[in-house]
Amino acid sequence: MRNYQVTAVRRCLAPRGNPMDVKEAIEARRAYRSLDPITITRELIDDLAHCAQLSASCNNNQPWRFVFVYDPTMLRKMHEALSKGNEWIHDASMIIAVVSKKEYDCIIKGRHYYQFDCGMATAFLILRATELGLVAHPIAGYNPEKTREILGIPNDLEVITLVNVGKHAHDIHPVLTEKQRATEVKRPERFPLEKFVFLNQYPKE
Ligand SMILES: Cc1cc2nc3c(=O)[nH]c(=O)nc-3n(C[C@H](O)[C@H](O)[C@H](O)COP(=O)(O)O)c2cc1C
Repeated sequence: MRNYQVTAVRRCLAPRGNPMDVKEAIEARRAYRSLDPITITRELIDDLAHCAQLSASCNNNQPWRFVFVYDPTMLRKMHEALSKGNEWIHDASMIIAVVSKKEYDCIIKGRHYYQFDCGMATAFLILRATELGLVAHPIAGYNPEKTREILGIPNDLEVITLVNVGKHAHDIHPVLTEKQRATEVKRPERFPLEKFVFLNQYPKE
């Protein structure tokens, strides 16, 4: 990657003292489930939000809304909304609810873009958290009604994901299943490129 001179843009440092480039952050990101606590500051929240804010969106509609939950009482309440198997989140220092609805973004001939745009913005936030040496683990295993009730989110908004933030712990969390324990050590396998990369034309069935 070309080494651009960064002047106006502040670059923060990765844990070992060097800035991460995008590819390094992509490779370092993992959905770890063993978390140590971190201190949540307004500066961290604004930093993550700023990175999400710069994401692209259809017609610049910016359909994302984020509820950053870090108050210990609110975090405890949020634990009631988690599905079985997600008890490891009890050790997260912050849960970020990503919220939107289709009317906030382009609908083009039946194509709804709000989830795509929220996904991109959330990916930026997650990569920034990774660059800062944090774990930011998105989940789908929660009760959306309960989440809305706890956080006061209006019924017409969808809770698209909860991103769980902490620091990667050295020791594996005791509540993890065998399968979850294995993924703490080794990244789950990915499809080979041949399965999803097609050149010039979609393959015939
Ligand atoms: C939309 C979505 C939903 C997920 N839901 C859960 C979940 O409910 N619980 C969980 O522990 N991990 C969840 N994950 C994490 C995935 O299991 C994880 O990203 C995947 O196994 C690949 O591992 P890696 O991200 O460490 O490479 C979710 C990830 C995504 C993107």
